[in-house]
Amino acid sequence: MLPSVLQPNATDHVPVLADEVRRLLDVHPGETVIDATFGAGGHAALLAPDLQGQGKYVAVDRDPSVRPYFESFRRGAGVQTRFLRGDFADVFERLADNGLRADAILFDLGVSSMQLDRPERGFSYASDAPLDMRMDPSADHSARDLVNEASERELTDIFRGYGEERYARQIAKAVVRRRKQQPFERTGELVETIKGAIPTPARFGDGHPARRVFQALRIAVNDELEALEHALPAALDTLHPGGRIAVISFHSLEDRIVKRFFQREARGCTCPPEFPVCVCGREPTLRVLTKKAIRPTAEEVAANPRAGSARLRAATKT
Ligand SMILES: C[S@@+](CC[C@H](N)C(=O)[O-])C[C@H]1O[C@@H](n2cnc3c(N)ncnc32)[C@H](O)[C@@H]1O
Repeated sequence: MLPSVLQPNATDHVPVLADEVRRLLDVHPGETVIDATFGAGGHAALLAPDLQGQGKYVAVDRDPSVRPYFESFRRGAGVQTRFLRGDFADVFERLADNGLRADAILFDLGVSSMQLDRPERGFSYASDAPLDMRMDPSADHSARDLVNEASERELTDIFRGYGEERYARQIAKAVVRRRKQQPFERTGELVETIKGAIPTPARFGDGHPARRVFQALRIAVNDELEALEHALPAALDTLHPGGRIAVISFHSLEDRIVKRFFQREARGCTCPPEFPVCVCGREPTLRVLTKKAIRPTAEEVAANPRAGSARLRAATKT
């Protein structure tokens, strides 16, 4: 068993690809910025000064524990600020309906260092804690529910699809066997079950043996891909013509959603390729600013290993 860690250990989040985000979002005085994933406000602290005291910074996060970070940001922001707690997919739909328009929108997806480093949130395989993983602690389903209730087939699909876990089937089988004796309550129990389900050599290469399963469960528990699919069109509706949108993703499935959305909106026409002429009449709504996803430099990854898998894409509304 892993040691039980009772004290939260808050570590501030280091903003990823910060200079590139700032350059692409190109914030000017008087504009409205929507930071869809406020976290510790690391990007906010870099973008808000570009408003030079005029404009509005709207912070969104589904995790209520970011509140103190927002309060501290608000005090020094020097511009109008607002915090909207909720899933960014819902928030953008509400904002679009209420007529609020933005000039710059940032999504910095995934979890923050504070979420990962607070053992009691249950995101980490590195310490024994309740198996939770909800970004929004009031959400209905936690990782505990998923691990104890999903079928073996569903668990296999989650581990394989979201975690690219090679031993997905074996791990799902071991999870179902273990929970028949006693339901899972803690991260440590899951780590032990994963270790026991994979061949001994696989326990030692390519990072921690539970890393991929934990990532997969986190994505499933928080419906992360679905939230992104819904949020992107709503965010585009919220953007003024000429407005910029930037998305940092940390998972190939997220990046694929962003890339396809940008391509679709930049193409406009949705007619089947075999049509000789366009009959849909749709015009492009985005111009892509990043031909290829921008990756962090080796220096950034050395200083902040969590930046390692980051990819940044940006576009401007036509
Ligand atoms: C990588 S962190 C952002 C860090 C931030 N850019 C900074 O520099 O401090 C991601 C944040 O987005 C939030 N988040 C993830 N998915 C979300 C969603 N669907 N709706 C709202 N917030 C979300 C998480 O709770 C987390 O605080």
